[in-house]
Amino acid sequence: MSLLRIENLTHHFGGLRAVKDYNLVLEPGQIRGLIGPNGAGKTTVFNLITGVYRPTEGRILFEGRDITGMRPHRIAALGISRTFQNMQLWRHMTVLEHVKVAQYSQITYGLVGAFFGTARRRWEEAEIERKAYSLLEMVGVARWADQVVTNLPYGVQRRVEMARALATEPKVLLLDEPTAGMNPEELKEMIDIIRQVHDRLGMSIFLIEHRMRVVMELCEVVQTLNFGEVIAEGTPDEVRADPAVIEAYLGREVEVVA
Ligand SMILES: Nc1ncnc2c1ncn2[C@@H]1O[C@H](COP(=O)(O)OP(=O)(O)O)[C@@H](O)[C@H]1O
Ligand SMILES: [Mg+2]
Repeated sequence: MSLLRIENLTHHFGGLRAVKDYNLVLEPGQIRGLIGPNGAGKTTVFNLITGVYRPTEGRILFEGRDITGMRPHRIAALGISRTFQNMQLWRHMTVLEHVKVAQYSQITYGLVGAFFGTARRRWEEAEIERKAYSLLEMVGVARWADQVVTNLPYGVQRRVEMARALATEPKVLLLDEPTAGMNPEELKEMIDIIRQVHDRLGMSIFLIEHRMRVVMELCEVVQTLNFGEVIAEGTPDEVRADPAVIEAYLGREVEVVA
């Protein structure tokens, strides 16, 4: 069974058709890419998957279960986690708190917890802290654990957002332009981190990217979206050589590379 399957997804904003007849099959452990010019509908696809919008038409299946139109927190609880194109961090919280709060959102103490009382709770606290640190280490930001995020460099903040997304132990990670605004050094680090997350956690990753280089280095399969429609799908090399993709990107490639 596929992990995530999308069938004939269409979404309108008023008179604007942002996504048209979109299909996807994401297998467990796969890294897939979604590219396309600005305004192509990429972020809308993520917003549909995560329940921010209910699609005008089509179905979204997660582990065979129809999640179309489910509330975002339920979809998250099933195991779909994301980062945002414009980072959405909590301004006054520390790096460590970001990851811990995300974990708390998954905890239910329940009857057993009430029975064993504080000992269990203390154990859970320690466990949460230990797990938070190991995630911060994986994305290379453990040394800033006690710093408030707003004081940190942009590339570090992006990695904190990633650690937070991983804190709920998702089965799929959706990354919306994780390298946006990064300098070449930060970009290289982020590519390494995404690869590590994939290799060490065996996680499925669905990546929206603006920069061809990131997609080329990471993805097994890439789709190109243009005006809401998939115009090409294949390996990075196939997609890069596709005349329709070149046409969609040409004239914009300057901004893509810059
Ligand atoms: N909430 C919204 N209301 C109206 N139009 C929207 C909304 N979100 C996105 N759009 C429009 O839908 C199209 C696709 O946007 P988006 O999915 O953000 O593209 P991308 O992520 O590929 O740059 C754009 O024309 C955008 O202006
Ligand atoms: Mg976008």
